[in-house]
Amino acid sequence: MTLALVSALPQELEAVLALLPDEQRTAFAGRGFWRGHLHGQEVVAVLSGIGKAAAATTTALLIARFGASAVVMTGVAGGLGAGVKVGDVVVAAELLQHDMDASPVFPRHEVPGYGRSRFASDGALSDRLARACEATLREAPAALGAAAVEAFGLGDSRVHRGLLLTGDRFVSRTAESEALQRELPDALAVDMESAAVAQVCADFGVPLAVVRTISDRADDAAHVDFPRFLTQVASRYSAAIVERLLGE
Ligand code: ADE
Repeated sequence: MTLALVSALPQELEAVLALLPDEQRTAFAGRGFWRGHLHGQEVVAVLSGIGKAAAATTTALLIARFGASAVVMTGVAGGLGAGVKVGDVVVAAELLQHDMDASPVFPRHEVPGYGRSRFASDGALSDRLARACEATLREAPAALGAAAVEAFGLGDSRVHRGLLLTGDRFVSRTAESEALQRELPDALAVDMESAAVAQVCADFGVPLAVVRTISDRADDAAHVDFPRFLTQVASRYSAAIVERLLGE
């Protein structure tokens, strides 16, 4: 069994690779696939690429060419739901492409040919991932230091589980974020890859779990919050979560 570790960000992949004692890089289709072991588990780590098409190609290759039998995706997302704050973690139960719109031929958000708009993550793998996130949130903020906890308000971070949205847009306007919340009131957060990864995993019947750390609130301040958070917090969280997941 080979577990794919898909990182949305180079900083995250770097932190994950630092955990592997024996990784070997294979280049294919302009991507670097790193095969190795983590806690004795065979893994293949890769950058998703940004946006739905890049992430879908990466996922298809992971499964069809690199033999991945399960996929875990990490990254950051913009918080949408009330109470989903910067530093919180979202483990996806369902994933939806918010920019999919073939209406009036198909209902808004439905993926043509699939008869549905929502793709479920794997329950058992997501339960394990959520436990790893809870443990990480108990320890990682303190490890980052008091200054980071204060700067990013990480004191009372929590794990949420529910609907994650994906679209080929960085949501950086409060008006757009509010429109998404009105349209999909149960949405917790928004990113640019996860639901595309979910669609490909569904095609192949491969289990998927997704975790996203909230880097911004998908509002008018998103472009400022996002880069600060990436370099200082997100990469360390992702590596700590993956390490916990496989060390369980
Ligand atoms: N990833 C992190 N923040 C995001 C945002 N505001 N919109 C889309 N993807 C994101």
